[in-house]
Amino acid sequence: MHLGIIMDGNGRWATRLGRSRGAGHRAGAAMVRRIVEAAPDLGIGVLTLFAFSADNWRRPAAEVAWLMRLFREYLRGETERCVANGVRLEVIGRRDRIGPALQRAIETAYRKTAAGTRLHLRIALDYSSRDAILRAAQCLSPEAAPTRDAFSRLLAIADHGTPVPDVDLLIRTGGERRLSDFLLWEAAYAELLFTPLMWPEFGPEALREAIADFSTRQRRFGALPEAAAG
Ligand code: IPE
Ligand code: IPE
Ligand code: MG
Repeated sequence: MHLGIIMDGNGRWATRLGRSRGAGHRAGAAMVRRIVEAAPDLGIGVLTLFAFSADNWRRPAAEVAWLMRLFREYLRGETERCVANGVRLEVIGRRDRIGPALQRAIETAYRKTAAGTRLHLRIALDYSSRDAILRAAQCLSPEAAPTRDAFSRLLAIADHGTPVPDVDLLIRTGGERRLSDFLLWEAAYAELLFTPLMWPEFGPEALREAIADFSTRQRRFGALPEAAAG
């Protein structure tokens, strides 16, 4: 199962508690650790987390710098834990606008965790789904007529990842009901779940409930349900 999560609400969570937005992002990073730990036992094979969108550069420089620092800390701190837990870590998105130290941390994490088979963890950083689709399209030769599967593979590879199946379940925390340029192609038939919980409140128990909800949904992919199909 491929789960995508738009981890939204760090700032509002912190503000409500009278804390800084930065403290919210730190709490958010701590929750990433717990969710990553819980995911494999819940049947999740691929987990794509939206950490920083290409549009998030529009935020104040101080907040962006704080987030970049947290990403570096997270990657450096988590790489060994990922190796121990069989987690293969990839970062998808652009690489040319982030600092060299973060680039190195990404490459190290990628190299060290490459053998992990329990969970394929993809962190979307400086990520835009529409830009990813354009980059993949640029890789096509003019006479190419790609299949959907071939284009899906290209999409992952053009964004520094490796091929993944389509998204089965897409969760957005933080109460907003929008996709904000996340996995537009890959989520064509994803089940959507919007929760009012802020990301730092979305723990393993909430994830378990989300998976239980997902398992009650009937997915038809345009066909008729089996009972009616005769
Ligand atoms: C999500 O939380 C994290 C990032 C976008 C980096 P926000 O920072 O968007 O939190 P809110 O939406 O302002 O509460
Ligand atoms: C989406 O959240 C991006 C991430 C969670 C990384 P935003 O907070 O940036 O999205 P909008 O601006 O509310 O659409
Ligand atoms: Mg937000």
